[in-house]
Amino acid sequence: MDKFVVQGGAKLYGRVKIQAAKNAVLPLLAASVLADDLVTIRDLPHITDAENMLHILSELGCGIVRGDGYVTIDGRNAVSHEIPSTLTRELRSSVFMLGSVLTRFRRAKISYPGGCDIGLRPIDLHLSGLKRLGVTIIEENGYVICSAEKLRGADILLDFPSVGATENIMLAAVKAEGKTVIRNAAKEPEIVDLQNFLSRMGADVSGAGGDTVEITGVKRLHGVDYTPMKDRIEAGTFLIAAASCGGEIETEGVSEENIAALLHKLRENGCKITAKGDKIRLRSSGDLKAASLVETLPFPGFPTDMQAQYAALSATARGTAVIVENLFETRYKYAGELKKMGADVTVRGRTAVIRGVEKLHGAEVSACDLRGGAALVIAGLQADGLTRISRIEHIDRGYESIERDLGVLGAHVRRETGT
Ligand code: UD1
Repeated sequence: MDKFVVQGGAKLYGRVKIQAAKNAVLPLLAASVLADDLVTIRDLPHITDAENMLHILSELGCGIVRGDGYVTIDGRNAVSHEIPSTLTRELRSSVFMLGSVLTRFRRAKISYPGGCDIGLRPIDLHLSGLKRLGVTIIEENGYVICSAEKLRGADILLDFPSVGATENIMLAAVKAEGKTVIRNAAKEPEIVDLQNFLSRMGADVSGAGGDTVEITGVKRLHGVDYTPMKDRIEAGTFLIAAASCGGEIETEGVSEENIAALLHKLRENGCKITAKGDKIRLRSSGDLKAASLVETLPFPGFPTDMQAQYAALSATARGTAVIVENLFETRYKYAGELKKMGADVTVRGRTAVIRGVEKLHGAEVSACDLRGGAALVIAGLQADGLTRISRIEHIDRGYESIERDLGVLGAHVRRETGT
């Protein structure tokens, strides 16, 4: 298994281009089986979550062609409605296949999905939404088996603005009979990207980005050539790294409004930030003051996917930061690893209290999940000496090459290839 060896101490300077957004690409890939023609997705990042999703599509019978900077999916020959359980265990987003496979075959079978081990991650909102569209659901032996003679539009109120449930219902409703209204929908920018993608395929979808999404079923969806939005979480990770280490960097591809909550906190920490179009420039002395309270919330609140990286920054900020994780109950697994590096972190339930220390020191640590892994890289960049991070396959799920991109900025992160 590969490891990262991080040499701390360098300030970060330069410009980094942001990859296409993992959380946009995964539902788009799921949606590609709905087209009666070829779908081309540009700039697909080389991340294992996307590779696994392509693998699922090919198991369903889709033709996949990888070219230089694009992938083409031919869903016309898809034959299977069963999503292979070996792959669903690797990838929670395989659950998005439910909506699109149901639309395509009127049936779908999936085992309970995996992904990052960051909490219970139930799928009750997905299933109750699908039921409202006329789907019969049987749960047995760890499988969810769905069938519907006909998908019919419905008025659906989500108890919580779940990203995945909103996307799944959109995918099940695009060719349903009549109109579907999703109320209390998630407002994440990736939902807007899915709407744009579906609209380009000929779907009738509106309202994404607000709390009500409306979909009127259409008979046919055609092919599309699409470039997904860029990854706000990747951009945020680099900005947090530069804020922690000091220096001056510019990210290219993500606009301010998509990560406003993070930028607000980084300004509170003492960073100078300017933004224009899709460029964000951050300057930091590396001597930060702790932000008093950070609570993760659905968009446009502070993203849970940036909580761990932000905790790594807070580990050496002056003063005490209190972080409240409202979305996923076990998203503090990295805290024990940060402690090995000298951080002063106390976790009680959903709250972490981080008292800033002068300096972290290098240690042998292990990535427990994707963003927790990124947090350890950021901690290593600030630390004295060498940090060796194992289980970096978690990091590779969502960052195409974090060591290459941080290297462009002057950081010393080396991949040690294991067996
Ligand atoms: C998506 C993102 C993930 C991000 C999360 C929150 C993708 C591929 N993943 O995950 O990176 O951390 O949004 O921004 O886009 N919930 C239920 N029942 C359900 C579904 C969700 O109770 O049926 C709860 C979850 O336990 C959690 C909250 O709703 O507490 C938010 O989850 P959700 O928005 O669904 O996250 P995901 O779509 O899984």
